[in-house]
Amino acid sequence: TPRVFSGIQPTNHLQLGNYLGAVKRFVQMQDEGMETIYCIVDLHAITASFQEPAKLRHATRELAAAYIASGLDPAKSILFNQSQVPQHTELGWIFNCVARMGWMNRMTQFKDKAGKNAEKASLGLYAYPSLMAADILAYHATHVPVGEDQKQHVELTRDIAAKFNHDYGVEFFPETQPIIEGAATRVMSLRDGTKKMSKSDPSDASRINLTDDADTIAKKIRKAKTDPEPLPETTDGLADRPEARNLVNIYAALAGTTRDAVIAEYGGAQFGTFKPALAELAVEKLAPISTEMSRLMDDPAEIDRILGEGAERAANVAEPIIAKTYDIVGFVRSR
Ligand code: TYM
Repeated sequence: TPRVFSGIQPTNHLQLGNYLGAVKRFVQMQDEGMETIYCIVDLHAITASFQEPAKLRHATRELAAAYIASGLDPAKSILFNQSQVPQHTELGWIFNCVARMGWMNRMTQFKDKAGKNAEKASLGLYAYPSLMAADILAYHATHVPVGEDQKQHVELTRDIAAKFNHDYGVEFFPETQPIIEGAATRVMSLRDGTKKMSKSDPSDASRINLTDDADTIAKKIRKAKTDPEPLPETTDGLADRPEARNLVNIYAALAGTTRDAVIAEYGGAQFGTFKPALAELAVEKLAPISTEMSRLMDDPAEIDRILGEGAERAANVAEPIIAKTYDIVGFVRSR
């Protein structure tokens, strides 16, 4: 049976790309009645740079609030933070011994995040994709909704599963499918249509944060970089216009429609017309989420309770899978 797993790092505020490329899809899959497990990957959050402990705790709770405010229902989905379920690190270690250095060397995200001086990157950042494979396979998850930038990691997950199964002569870990669907699988920066929108971009104007208020959202969209031409009459006309394409994609994803439908309505329109329409739509969809998030953040103990309950349910699923993995590997278990 299909089982959905995905995760998001609690680093900085969630931005529109995370929401449209991931969270919104997570909620849809939950509402379609699939078995859904969603994680706040705090173990991953400390791989790239030092995280102030108080900030990490806050970001973890804020991400939980963002999930719930976006429609994730802890009664329908399992919602928890990774560090509360030790099976992730247990399986991660085994996968460190299955995955090859050469595979890790090919990961574009490691190259991006490590930058020019890979010698200074943490060992954890290097092994990051192996822990991610463990996140997914500790639950035998088959479907992983993600944005475009995580595709390579999910493909590596398949390679790790296949090598484990082959080495031990078992059919144990399933093949995992990345689910990369919709108009916003790669939301771009509002300042540069060739750069991904990111939580870590130094320019706050480059992104819309889920914590932004209505005025800030509207202002950022009004100031978004564009070219001087009106919107094209067909979607093909967006091909070499990254900024225009990005705003059309954002509109389509927010409205829950397609690029074609947006162009059918706004083809030929000037940005002076399209941007206010987009700003209005964004505020309509996002402002209630930010309001609900701050309401939830007034009661951090309740958030912690939800995460604890989710962690217990997650561990109940992962525990027998890891026990079986240990048996396959040949670890003696006598207690
Ligand atoms: P993270 O925290 O960087 O991003 C969370 C999710 O948001 C998507 N995303 C975007 N989608 C569209 N446009 C963008 N500009 C954009 N920016 C981010 C990401 O693709 C992702 O789906 N390695 C993961 C976290 C992770 C994970 C996992 C995911 C750890 N274990 C297991 C799935 C399954 C990451 O760093 O995502």
